[in-house]
Amino acid sequence: MTSNIRRGIFAMLFLVGISFLYAGCGADSNMTMETELESESEPDENDIVIGVSQVGSESDWRATNTQAYRDTFTEEKGYYLIFEDGQQKQENQVKALRKFILKGVDYIVLDPIVETGWDAVLKEAQDANIPVIIADRNVSVEDESLYTCWVGSDFMLEGRNAGEWLARYLRSRGRGNKDINIVTLQGTLGSTAQIGRTLGFAEVMEKHANWNMLEYQSGDFTQAKAYEVMEYFLETYEDIDVVISENDNMTFGAIEAIKEAGLRLSRNGDIIIISFDAVRDALLLVQKGEIAADFECNPITPPLVEEIIQKLERGEEIEKVQYVDETYFDYKMDMETLLQDRTY
Ligand code: AHR
Repeated sequence: MTSNIRRGIFAMLFLVGISFLYAGCGADSNMTMETELESESEPDENDIVIGVSQVGSESDWRATNTQAYRDTFTEEKGYYLIFEDGQQKQENQVKALRKFILKGVDYIVLDPIVETGWDAVLKEAQDANIPVIIADRNVSVEDESLYTCWVGSDFMLEGRNAGEWLARYLRSRGRGNKDINIVTLQGTLGSTAQIGRTLGFAEVMEKHANWNMLEYQSGDFTQAKAYEVMEYFLETYEDIDVVISENDNMTFGAIEAIKEAGLRLSRNGDIIIISFDAVRDALLLVQKGEIAADFECNPITPPLVEEIIQKLERGEEIEKVQYVDETYFDYKMDMETLLQDRTY
């Protein structure tokens, strides 16, 4: 189906959908809220209609990523954005995709909470001839032709880099051959960010027989959950040397629990914290020496998604896998200067 035909159908379904919602027949009030608000205006005939299904609002990283979608897909640039917040639930994201399909959007952008469970709904999108771009986390499906491409971070490399950094750091402190007790605060289990960071770090662990992983537990990428898990770790294990925290918001929760237990952090003593994301507030803690090192996860993927959409509009070929550039920061760097040029 061509974009123009789809746009015509979209306009019609849009009107039907609005009357449906106003008649009070909406199936799921949580899900309709944001769409209703954004659908006050109608797309122009030439607008490119994009349905974005976001994971939720669990972290500072996510807030930056969401804002980047809003800044990228603007009306001025000829886009009509329908944004759905999945509130950390896959079922909400599946419903959002079905809604986009029913509306006949031109493109679907999916940031999937976990990797599995997408085959059926992606097939529905394919049958409706709607290209699906996967962003940030990835999907694991039987048939990779169900989506156009994926753009995001090399999470496995982030985890591996964190492990290698720790090895260098311990060596520099004369602890390269000492027993090192580690706990890991994992992200949402089954998400690409969790799987990659856990596996990447584990790969380096295998080379260090003196590193002892005491326990892995998920803090679901949130500050509150990680605070609870860290409290439990501190009550359970007497001698924790290192905390691997798979995102910055969990690190904030862990730091709170560690300080409340009267322990000192990273450069200043007892527990070394390694984090992921490198959001501004976390980098300030790197500067204070509370986080030892922070491995960047770049949230500014929406402009790359836009480039992909523009290429598709021109009928160009698309690379199936596209990684974003990333770096890391540690307590030895000149954070003041680095923070000046940083936008998030
Ligand atoms: O998928 C990216 C991860 O999800 C980020 O590390 C984290 O902060 C977010 O919640």
